[in-house]
Amino acid sequence: DKGNHRHFMEKEIHQQPEVISHTLANYLDFTTNRAKPLNLPFDFAKVDRLAIAACGTAFLAGSVGKYWFERIAKLPVDIDIASEFRYREMPLSMRSAALFVSQSGETADTLASLRYCRKAGLPIGAIVNVRESTIARESNVVLPTLAGPEIGVASTKAFTCQLSVLASLVVNAAKARGMVDDAGEEQLVRELAEAPRLASQVLKLAPQLEALGRELAHYKHVLYLGRDTSYPLAVEGALKLKEISYIHAEGYAAGELKHGPIALIDESMPVIVIAPHDRVFEKTVSNMQEVAARGGKIILITDKRGAEHATVETLQTIVLPDMPEIVAPIIYALPIQMLAYYTAVFMGTDVDQPRNLAKSVTVE
Ligand code: F6R
Repeated sequence: DKGNHRHFMEKEIHQQPEVISHTLANYLDFTTNRAKPLNLPFDFAKVDRLAIAACGTAFLAGSVGKYWFERIAKLPVDIDIASEFRYREMPLSMRSAALFVSQSGETADTLASLRYCRKAGLPIGAIVNVRESTIARESNVVLPTLAGPEIGVASTKAFTCQLSVLASLVVNAAKARGMVDDAGEEQLVRELAEAPRLASQVLKLAPQLEALGRELAHYKHVLYLGRDTSYPLAVEGALKLKEISYIHAEGYAAGELKHGPIALIDESMPVIVIAPHDRVFEKTVSNMQEVAARGGKIILITDKRGAEHATVETLQTIVLPDMPEIVAPIIYALPIQMLAYYTAVFMGTDVDQPRNLAKSVTVE
């Protein structure tokens, strides 16, 4: 049932404040502001590496997780696309743990990667949305996303719930590894608690994003740029746009611009820059200047401080509220989902069932 929404995808985008809140509350105690204890088959204090493998959007959630685990918990992460992981014969350290991320819990390559790690004797955790799935059954611990059924083929609420679980695990890991004290843990939990309210605020940008989607629909190519945790989001933005609107889109690390993609820049390829006012903001601004100098049209997704400090002319600036660094990847997912959605709706594609795609990829 789509309720009063035109598509499941729109409904699922709008469910995010609620499902993010449910998911976070499963892992974090908002009365004590502490991470709830987890029954893990390994000890975050004792592992020296975490191997994460997944496909598509779930891979991109894991990619954000890498930045968080390494920066906040000082735990090195190897993140792989599952179809590569399963065949590349990486030497697995016996002091590693493995984590698999999957909405459906049935993705063939992710499942094969899980079995590979199990055979090697690694402890296995699975972040899944479907509790009764094969991946859930075959892992040592299930870390559920409480997104509810996701019907739209393009993943939206499952992604932000995967990020919510990963962020919660990072709080746990940071605590176990002595990288935050009690006060630091409380602060992270309080910051994450803001996610549902921030997501609701961002949903109110729908009219601006709808108008922008109408403009985007006239282009054949779109480039997304971001740094740090906004880099996987840039790739996710491009993935969402191409899969439902069929517009060719690419997501790049902003610093890679001058190593190739800058050759493509002209007025016919808009550049969507995801840049909260964070530790790498100034670096991203210089990349935007390089784009502007070549006649590129910039759509900047930032916050109030970023909008004030971005010394570059943009076609449009989407201004999100200022927010703590750890919640930004969760919240910045929304405008890129909405932009892809409105562009596709305007183009008249089958948003919930894009051509050639299946919700669950159970064959290799
Ligand atoms: C993109 C999308 C896919 C899935 C991928 C993995 O919007 O939905 O890229 O993320 O097929 O699927 P799961 O998470 O079910 O393993």
